[in-house]
Amino acid sequence: MKNYVAILTLCTLAGFSAAAPATPPRERLSFDADWRFQKLEAPESSPDLAPAQPAFDDSKWRRLNLPHDWAIEGPFLTDVPNSIGMLPSAGVGWYRKHFDAPVSDRDRRVFLDVDGAMSHAQVWLNGQLLGEWPYGYTSLRFDLTPHLRVGAANLLAVRLNNPPKSSRWYPGGGLYRNVWLVKTGPVHVAHWGVFVTTPEVSKEKAAVKVQTTVDNGSRVEATLTVRQEVFEESSQAGVVARAEHSDVRIRPDGSADVVDQFEVPAPKLWDLDSPHLYRIRTTVLVDGNVADITETPFGIRRITIHPERGLELNGRRVRLNGVCLHSDLGPLGAAINVRAMERQLQLLRELGCNSIRTAHNPPAPELLDLCDRMGVLVLAEAFDAWRFPARDWVPNDYARHFEAWHERDVRAFVRRDRNHPSIFMWSSGNEIQDQRKPDGVKTAERLRDLFHAEDPTRPVAGGLDDPAVLKNGFYRGFDVIGLNYKPHLYAETRKLAPEWPVFGSETASTVSSRGEYFFPVEQKIGDGADVFHVTSYDLYFPTWASAPDTEFAAQDDNPAVLGEFVWSGFDYLGEPTPFDPTRYLTYNKDPEDRRRIVAATEKNGGFSPARSSYFGILDLCGFKKDRFYLYQARWRPELRMAHILPHWTWPDRTGKATPVYVYTSGDEAELLVNGRSLGRKKRGPRDYRLRWDEVVYEPGELKVIAYKAGREWATDVQRTAGKATTVRLEADRADLRADGRDLAFVTASIRDEAGGIVPRASDRVRFRLEGPGEIAAVDNGDPTRLESFQAKDCRAFNGLCLVIVRTLAGRAGSIVLRAEADGLRAARVNVRAE
Ligand code: GAL
Repeated sequence: MKNYVAILTLCTLAGFSAAAPATPPRERLSFDADWRFQKLEAPESSPDLAPAQPAFDDSKWRRLNLPHDWAIEGPFLTDVPNSIGMLPSAGVGWYRKHFDAPVSDRDRRVFLDVDGAMSHAQVWLNGQLLGEWPYGYTSLRFDLTPHLRVGAANLLAVRLNNPPKSSRWYPGGGLYRNVWLVKTGPVHVAHWGVFVTTPEVSKEKAAVKVQTTVDNGSRVEATLTVRQEVFEESSQAGVVARAEHSDVRIRPDGSADVVDQFEVPAPKLWDLDSPHLYRIRTTVLVDGNVADITETPFGIRRITIHPERGLELNGRRVRLNGVCLHSDLGPLGAAINVRAMERQLQLLRELGCNSIRTAHNPPAPELLDLCDRMGVLVLAEAFDAWRFPARDWVPNDYARHFEAWHERDVRAFVRRDRNHPSIFMWSSGNEIQDQRKPDGVKTAERLRDLFHAEDPTRPVAGGLDDPAVLKNGFYRGFDVIGLNYKPHLYAETRKLAPEWPVFGSETASTVSSRGEYFFPVEQKIGDGADVFHVTSYDLYFPTWASAPDTEFAAQDDNPAVLGEFVWSGFDYLGEPTPFDPTRYLTYNKDPEDRRRIVAATEKNGGFSPARSSYFGILDLCGFKKDRFYLYQARWRPELRMAHILPHWTWPDRTGKATPVYVYTSGDEAELLVNGRSLGRKKRGPRDYRLRWDEVVYEPGELKVIAYKAGREWATDVQRTAGKATTVRLEADRADLRADGRDLAFVTASIRDEAGGIVPRASDRVRFRLEGPGEIAAVDNGDPTRLESFQAKDCRAFNGLCLVIVRTLAGRAGSIVLRAEADGLRAARVNVRAE
């Protein structure tokens, strides 16, 4: 977001101060503060539009700041489907904002930019409808200028409506992304009007091409100069390249495209480990006066995707070690938060993940900024449905709007995001039902052509899940074939469509609850109180999916395959397979599982208490499941690591066979129980984990020593825990920004006297905060926890829970978080807000 701040200071920087007007030529102001909100469950047949009118009395409405998710405070409701997280996201909600337009807005253009509104947005200014937009994931612009009362009070009203049965996952609700006021002069760079490409890239030089659209909103013809200046983002070196285009004439209310191409000598390339960024400053001058200035970050990199050679970034083969990400931020819900997204990406980098797929919709713009800065590749996806609903149980999804809106949604998506170096490919859709329909390929081609029209530089893929697409030709509507859960079809697909690059757009869907292990290891789900949990031996997945190991082997057997996107990076709200009662009966084929789930569900009054998914490599809190290390061992072969499972605190298993698995980047490992070796095991060419199936449990120490090429490489230990005695608090960061948005993620763990985590501890921890901060959310990653995320206490789930602390805007100081639990030594942690 740095660049927006920078814009305001540019006039002085560029030396225009003498001639510049009192206000900068362009302002982009956060419009998130001080909204009023009310959920109003009005019948759709006769919607009450009274809140759109300025005279409406909203004095009793809740006051809040954006981004806001109206559903995350719950409560969890048993009549709301598990698939959307049992949270009240459906319904109608209104937001109203009272604001004064300063006199300096006279003769300016004033736009409202909404990064995302869930969903079916309708926007009024001073009682006048400005427009509407159904898709909740597209960024929107509304022109306030015609109805703005300059030098007076104004009223903006936004009505949002989430129909029931319109999403397959938790969508949240409301103005859940940032909202901005953008003010420009009449002659200005158009919305998303700068498009930067790098048609030639080498070590010696890069050709940078900039296409700029300028709008003339004045009543006279404008003659202008467009100046482009390129800077290095991380250096004070000044302008590294420039171009200028003069005598551009635009008629009143018209617009013009100006194309410039220039050379950047010895470019610093954007790459995964050196995500170097440049910035282009576009200045529009009318009669020598600055009319507008915008800044556009971009990167210089070369990406090629070839059916045989795979994906090459700057000439080097990169295998996609990726994950699919839904956009909710776990306990924080759908409301976007930059620090929460950054933490997700940091954890994914630690995993060795180099790419994400934005399942199944355009992401918040800040996520892409982070990926640009952190060197993460992005497969940016548009839709979960085209003409036909994604599943028959979501009849109100995007399919209802596809016909009328898909072109506007695709164009908006690509125009907003095409300058991000992180985006390497678009996806026009996921598991689209049209893949089975006679005209499906035509729709796919139409979408592909729309993407190409807006961005001729990137290929378009899709996540295809029906093998029929290979026979019926649907795949021809894409440049690259993404296969969901079809490792067994890679070879065949390559043969059938040799000109098409192929990748695993969605893989594994392995399910597990962090820290849960059932015996015998073949048993997937728990018994009794544990019945709604899935074991962490990482061998279980729904019928349509496959074990991570199966996918790894298929990728290794088919080196041309670009790589994979695992479903999913993190657990997310909704879709708690295998415990969604509306769906498990159709896909859980194991009769014993079915019997146990049905019996437990009946006992529970007809519902299964599961609000979030089990698919994550990390849980809903971002705590690592064992599977984290299975992927890390493969994706970071150079990292010395070994991970051993399960935990080693099994008072009722003494003398019983308790299988032990080891994930390591080594090639061999030795297992020791209380110092006695159980022998060394070597990894075969298609072994991704080492197993000791016959280990007999005895309390004490379980240790693994991993070797690589015969030399000791890494170790890991599990020790039998004693009685819980202490709570421990650990914050991920000690210094925060006092901006009302920055977060500390504080892990509370239950420890024994020796400091080890007590693996099954479920103590209730109570939190108290002093100083300039607030508890934003608590959770423990247990998909069956139906207590409020806003509570000030939380049970540990298998030894851990999480508190998310948020700073307050403009309030610096020391924040102290204390944690207490019955019978345990209390803990405190300090963080500073600056
Ligand atoms: C896929 C689908 C994803 C998710 C996943 C769970 O078929 O594309 O959105 O539902 O299954 O395994």
